[in-house]
Amino acid sequence: MEKFLSFSELVLLIGLCIQAHGQAFLRKGFLHRDISAGNVLIHPRCVEVDGRMEELRVGILADWELAKKVVKPMTEDAARQPHRTGTWQFMSASALNHPTKRIIVQDDMESFFHLILYFAIRFLPHNCENVGAFMDRYFDGHVEANGVCYAGEKKYMAMTNGNLSTLQPDLPLVFYIRRETQEPHSNNAVQTPHVSMDDSSQDSCEPSNPGRTEKPATGELSAGLAKPSISPEEDSEEPLERHPINALLSDILVRIKAHYMLYVPKKEVKAGSGHAAHRSNTPVPGTTPAVKAKLGMLFRHLRATRTGPSTPALSQATHKPEVVDPAMVALAGELGDQETMKALLERHVMEGDDWPDYEDRVPDQLPKNYRRGNEMAHGSKRTLESTQMETDEPPSKRSRSIR
Ligand SMILES: *[C@@H]1O[C@H](CO)[C@@H](O)[C@H](O)[C@H]1NC(C)=O
Repeated sequence: MEKFLSFSELVLLIGLCIQAHGQAFLRKGFLHRDISAGNVLIHPRCVEVDGRMEELRVGILADWELAKKVVKPMTEDAARQPHRTGTWQFMSASALNHPTKRIIVQDDMESFFHLILYFAIRFLPHNCENVGAFMDRYFDGHVEANGVCYAGEKKYMAMTNGNLSTLQPDLPLVFYIRRETQEPHSNNAVQTPHVSMDDSSQDSCEPSNPGRTEKPATGELSAGLAKPSISPEEDSEEPLERHPINALLSDILVRIKAHYMLYVPKKEVKAGSGHAAHRSNTPVPGTTPAVKAKLGMLFRHLRATRTGPSTPALSQATHKPEVVDPAMVALAGELGDQETMKALLERHVMEGDDWPDYEDRVPDQLPKNYRRGNEMAHGSKRTLESTQMETDEPPSKRSRSIR
């Protein structure tokens, strides 16, 4: 999935994976339980359009070997064995905090949220200065008590508060649009600036101007004075535009928060650990006009295969769920319905006109020397597999969890 062309494509392809998740669940009674970056794939297919062969890229949800047969979807399992069989970074905070809890659809839907965020924090401009530290805190974060690891504070707070913050808890995490005009030839113009490269080892997360080069801090004071020499790319003073993915993430979070408020027992969490890492940049792939064509193919496919009338309301992120009300029950319920969640993703992309139709991704902002910090701390990725299900897969496949 890492080879997605644009975030609109990414969201739609993940929507198809959610649909696959729902079909396996409803038709066959299987719950995937290991939604992770390594298990969502892009499958390019050849389809005939007006007599010509065109490539249609669809989403595939793979690695079903950990899937569990849920005999009656809404009933409890007889045996309550520990269920920690997913990939830590993408597991729901609820599953991480309640290791013996049965995994339900809502847990997997939360994992899809973590997945979208995972790609966004790596490949979109945003106001979090230290991606490595964010990865440590949000995805790898954990709290240990009596030798058992539980969900890290960062993920847990995001799910229960229904909002995302940078490394500073009170600073909302915001994703920005990379302007199309910035990209074609100059890699430098689109690289995330080397701002505070030297002091990014501290765990601070200042708002930055991703997608631009740092300017001297003279600002308005320099008006009337001789301007320092500024290259042509730098003279724009337009504010960064917010990426429509912010609204999508909020919309999913509203549902997750409602689910937590109504159905997930509270868990005390303490500060997690995190260590700093430096960012590094690789050249951005050039603009591809084909993104538009690819999206056109995908829109067409999705419209042609559109199922039931599930059309969730695009809710306001400002929804106030402090009291239990029917609206919250409804929101929480939507999280447990894959068709509804898929339709939510589709509506955001296909009915919103503000999604960039060019390659809006920036070079990977994950530091090259980034290593999953807690690999050892929270046990192996696949408890069940290592104890019960010896497969003859090559080891390379096993370690394909993140990246
Ligand atoms: C997130 O929500 C909580 C609870 O409503 C609030 O206290 C906090 O300030 C919010 N954080 C951000 C970054 O918006």
